[in-house]
Amino acid sequence: MSSVVSSQRVLSGMRPTGRLHLGHYHGVLKNWVRLQHEYECFFFVADWHALTTEYENPQRIEQNVWEMVIDWLAAGVNPGSCTLFIQSRVPEHAELHLLLSMMTPLGWLERVPTYKDQQEKLKEKDLATYGFLGYPLLQSADILMYRAGLVPVGADQVAHVEITREVARRFNHLYGREPGFEEAVAAAVRKMGKKQAKVYQDNRRKYQEQGDESALETARALVMDQQNITLGDRERLLGDLEGGGKVILPEPQALLTPASKMPGLDGQKMSKSYGNFISLREEPDSVDEKIRRMPTDPARVRRTDPGNPDNCPVWQLHQVYSDEQTRQWVREGCTTAGIGCLDCKKPVVEAVQAELEPIRRRAEEHTRNPDLVRSIVADGCEEAREAARATLEEVRSVMGLNYR
Ligand code: TRP
Ligand code: SF4
Repeated sequence: MSSVVSSQRVLSGMRPTGRLHLGHYHGVLKNWVRLQHEYECFFFVADWHALTTEYENPQRIEQNVWEMVIDWLAAGVNPGSCTLFIQSRVPEHAELHLLLSMMTPLGWLERVPTYKDQQEKLKEKDLATYGFLGYPLLQSADILMYRAGLVPVGADQVAHVEITREVARRFNHLYGREPGFEEAVAAAVRKMGKKQAKVYQDNRRKYQEQGDESALETARALVMDQQNITLGDRERLLGDLEGGGKVILPEPQALLTPASKMPGLDGQKMSKSYGNFISLREEPDSVDEKIRRMPTDPARVRRTDPGNPDNCPVWQLHQVYSDEQTRQWVREGCTTAGIGCLDCKKPVVEAVQAELEPIRRRAEEHTRNPDLVRSIVADGCEEAREAARATLEEVRSVMGLNYR
């Protein structure tokens, strides 16, 4: 991991929805492939999250898991540069989820916008379940388990990272204190003497109630100046000033995945449910055909009618795949009826074929070699478990659960 520049960990997951398409590639996967060289990355299949909505038909999940992993590998997610695993194979996630559930107010979960939104959207499913309400908290456990600093997600998942931050803050507040912390702080404050103790308390209050940073600075300086308190006291007072104790579960940040600029074949966002996608393993003939059949500017009925690229989904693909020169050629040729739509589509077809060729080849290799895929994932799960066990060990310990 010599090329890793930051000590921050990155963690992200995807629900197993089966084969991925170019929208996933241009949105999420290219981003992961870049991140894996810059950070220590954990990427996982969120199969339990899939179960929150697919519990009536769980048999489908297994195949979706393996197809998705093969697509990740084919797209260049490299098990040599990151850790790939399956959530349910790291059962520690369930224990952390349970422990976090003890201190998570119900209202926090009920107020997450996706809770009501998804229930509305997936009306055919009964999502008035305990598991579905806990979806964001399970996600918090996924993230906090690896003490991830950065969580690449789409805009729809930002609220889940936000609740994770709140859960972490509450956890640290409740358990990041040694037993007797409050008493030890009170004793240390008394050692300062009446006058200075009052200055300390006043500034602490100003900072905690009004966010007054200069009050925090004043109080800190005062603590640093104390001659007759111990080093431990000093640490406690500094922790007390900021209103917390030790950070056991650090608060993560969402790393917003730029919205995929990949349009679908009809100009809408590329999506499985719209049926307007090109899958990562689409056969060359099918790629040709799908693009050949794409609708173009509806005003261009005959070859001799000039068109307007701004009204054409093919033009959007040129934005993704073509250089400036080709785009000039399209604008000029389209608006003057100098080129036909099939001419115009040709460079796009070629670019998509060139992009998919190595992906398809790698997917085929992995499909022929399921044992290799299983062993990549098994190694990843083992690595993930090691990290997960270390966190859980500490979590159990601060919660007073490490008795045997
Ligand atoms: N809920 C995420 C999604 O639907 C998937 C997910 C589960 C996830 N756990 C995660 C993403 C942890 C990031 C971090 O896309
Ligand atoms: Fe669309 Fe190209 Fe046809 Fe113009 S020439 S309408 S941009 S496909």
